[in-house]
Amino acid sequence: MEHILEQYKSVTENEVKTWFSIGKIANFPENSGACIKYKTKQIAVYNFTRTGKWYATQNLCPHKMEMVLSLGMIGDKDGIPKVACPMHKKNFSLEDGSNLGGEDLKIATYPVKIENGNVYIGFSD
Ligand code: FES
Repeated sequence: MEHILEQYKSVTENEVKTWFSIGKIANFPENSGACIKYKTKQIAVYNFTRTGKWYATQNLCPHKMEMVLSLGMIGDKDGIPKVACPMHKKNFSLEDGSNLGGEDLKIATYPVKIENGNVYIGFSD
């Protein structure tokens, strides 16, 4: 299963080579997730209107390797925006992908930018 995880590596804004357009703001539900595909990756995108921010992470939950994170509930834990996996409710930070329960599980995060009503996710390839 490790090989599935290998393709998911966090990307910082400085590392972006491609801003991939995923559509209009209006196409994305508010305060929940949606799933898009980039090459072979499934990416979860979250339109967090409560804080006015967007986040993108791998859709794959590293706990049991389920492609489900876009279906998770978003919220915050002590001020950290997070997604709870719908399967076993493990919480991941939307900012750095760390597991907020302190477990050795991490998800990749990607920068999101909004321009002229369009949503873009930054990838390093
Ligand atoms: S599969 Fe996500 S918490 Fe178990």
